[in-house]
Amino acid sequence: MSHGLEQSVSKMREAGVSEPAIRSFSRLYERLLAHDDGIIHERDITPLVDVPHMHDLPGASTAQALAKTAFIRLNGGLGTSMGMDKAKSLLPVRDDLSFLDVIVNQVRKARAEHNISLPLVFMNSFRTEEDTLGALAPYSDLPIPGLPLSMLQNQEPKLQAKTLTPVTWPQDPTLEWCPPGHGDVYTVLYTSGVLDALADMGFEYLNIANADNLGAYPSPEIAQWFADSGAPFAAEVAERTPADRKGGHLVVRDGRIVLRETAQTAADDVEAAADISRHQYFNTNTLWMRVAALRELLAHHDGVMPLPLIKNEKTVDPTRPDSPAVIQIEVAMGAAIELFEGAQTLCVDRRRFLPVKTTNDLLLVRSDVYDLTEEYRLQATGQEPLITLDPGSYKLISDFENRFSRGIPSLKGASSFTVEGPYRFGVGQRVEGEAFLGPADNEITIPDHAIINSDGYHTV
Ligand code: UTP
Repeated sequence: MSHGLEQSVSKMREAGVSEPAIRSFSRLYERLLAHDDGIIHERDITPLVDVPHMHDLPGASTAQALAKTAFIRLNGGLGTSMGMDKAKSLLPVRDDLSFLDVIVNQVRKARAEHNISLPLVFMNSFRTEEDTLGALAPYSDLPIPGLPLSMLQNQEPKLQAKTLTPVTWPQDPTLEWCPPGHGDVYTVLYTSGVLDALADMGFEYLNIANADNLGAYPSPEIAQWFADSGAPFAAEVAERTPADRKGGHLVVRDGRIVLRETAQTAADDVEAAADISRHQYFNTNTLWMRVAALRELLAHHDGVMPLPLIKNEKTVDPTRPDSPAVIQIEVAMGAAIELFEGAQTLCVDRRRFLPVKTTNDLLLVRSDVYDLTEEYRLQATGQEPLITLDPGSYKLISDFENRFSRGIPSLKGASSFTVEGPYRFGVGQRVEGEAFLGPADNEITIPDHAIINSDGYHTV
């Protein structure tokens, strides 16, 4: 065993990390040492085509399949892309409701409407669990007897980029650890006993999705489609647009559907991979699984899903680019599609895929471009404008909150909204057409009730 792996394993054992999680880490570490980059060559695959669309599904006349489904929501990430150090799902998204409130209420509404128990279990990391449980506490009707509200994700050492040994950071030793990516959900379902408990309670299907995707509402139609398909595993996919050219996509290799991430694309294949008419679909990370099939696979692999390695290069303190460079070894949940023979995909529209990855996304979901329905679904009121906020002034959540603290302008009359300087917004403002606010050295406060359009802002 290499020195770095040995040190990492002892550090994990000392911290009480489960043995399947240590085995999973060790497997990936060996791959890192072997420079296994998981490249998937264009010559070895064919594009994924002819994916059925959710619009063509017959409406479910019953909620039979949804009644046998349990919801798992991934909530272990920290939203570091927005400079956050806690769960993104705690951010308010509509009035005072956070992502968590929206998800919980979608589930409570579906329970009441269909008279089903629909369990909801969050996967949290050591950084998100306490806050999340605190925020869920007021929902006394949410827990289902025999099931926890939260499964705690594993933790693993961040590795020094040069030596691949665990990094030390005495200023804040919690930053020496990271969650192993959302692919950890499989090991966690296995070691926490949640998968067994669900099987014992008679649940047959799992629906797993990101807690930052407000679109993955309980759908009796999709649950029924999955149940009827007989497939062990299915991924909800969406059509790639020019904005998704650089991202991962699904391909077919040796008869199985495979997720090809950008990092798994060979240099010679970049053009083919970016061709959205050839590779039409990306993974939304909303997945359906048969409990029995997942249990069988996990038991077969001793709790370790053999997923491809993702090498994530960061700094030990993600908010400080000058802190030491580290490598986090991670796995992605959606990559498991290749492990299930007969896995299927369903193309969904953007109603089911409303992720918040950046403050641009956050502005949009907080704005009047969406209404919150009685079922707690976000419904677009018109065309979603393309939002491009200056990263220097709005990328970090603290700057964003500060500059929009008095109000969010109306965006439903806009086709695009580009902001290139540090503007502060107020109340009663309206953005129209292809709106543009140009560069500025100092912060500019836009007057209340101003109209913002292609010529800047105007008072009325
Ligand atoms: P993302 O890949 O968007 O990551 O996670 P993130 O951590 O939220 O954001 P950045 O990259 O740090 O800005 C997709 C979903 O998976 C969860 C996140 O909470 C989010 O809902 N996740 C991610 C986990 O539960 N565990 C992980 O280890 C990583």
